[in-house]
Amino acid sequence: MKWDTSLYDQKHSFVTKYGEDLLSLLDAKSGERILDVGCGSGHLTKQIADAGADVVGLDSSPEMIATAQAAYPAINFLVADASDFSFDQPLDAIFSNAALHWVQRAEAAIICMARALKPGGRFVVEMGGKGNIAGIATALERAIRNQHGREAKATNYFPAVGEYSSLLEKHGIEVASALLFDRPTKLEGGEDGLENWIKMFRRELVIGFSEEEQQAIFAEVKTALRERLFRDGLWFADYRRLRIVAFKQ
Ligand code: BEZ
Repeated sequence: MKWDTSLYDQKHSFVTKYGEDLLSLLDAKSGERILDVGCGSGHLTKQIADAGADVVGLDSSPEMIATAQAAYPAINFLVADASDFSFDQPLDAIFSNAALHWVQRAEAAIICMARALKPGGRFVVEMGGKGNIAGIATALERAIRNQHGREAKATNYFPAVGEYSSLLEKHGIEVASALLFDRPTKLEGGEDGLENWIKMFRRELVIGFSEEEQQAIFAEVKTALRERLFRDGLWFADYRRLRIVAFKQ
């Protein structure tokens, strides 16, 4: 997926804001070696560095890493696939916010992360969980099917608590807490918030349509979701988060 990094930062800053909450769970300490998996434009990586940790930000998107590196030149950023990486020196902690649901080879990613952690090292992660954006996904797929007779499916990975915890435990990461919870997420842009979100995060499903066709799809999606996801002039994405704190055995 190719990211428009400035649009990402301007209109979707909630990704970073919610991540700050997760940072307090990470509780990074001075001198610790920490990996931020799926670091995006690097704002949370910077906060980990500010705690005094020796942090590396990893992301598969060269655009994101270029943006992060330009903003924070003193931090070590790396273009790499979360399901295919290794480090020579063991890590004290792995942190990841709103990223692992983009990784299709979830078990391969867990194997890499488990190998990279030192014994007792912590794993503090939040991602989309089972049922994440189910309303938006269904409405969008239905509108494309109704208007163009085409099946359009996005390929995120939104695991259940048991599924992801079992995978972690299979690879020697013991789960201390795992929580699946709803987080209705306010989208910036008022009436345009939902279509901005679709254009950013479901670009691959709508990019092939003309502007007029896209507007017709957005109109059907909005009609289907307005009662559930629109309040006081704002759209809310039906996010469900899976938050895990775990330790390498
Ligand atoms: C999420 O953060 O849950 C998410 C964002 C974009 C697309 C899919 C999921």
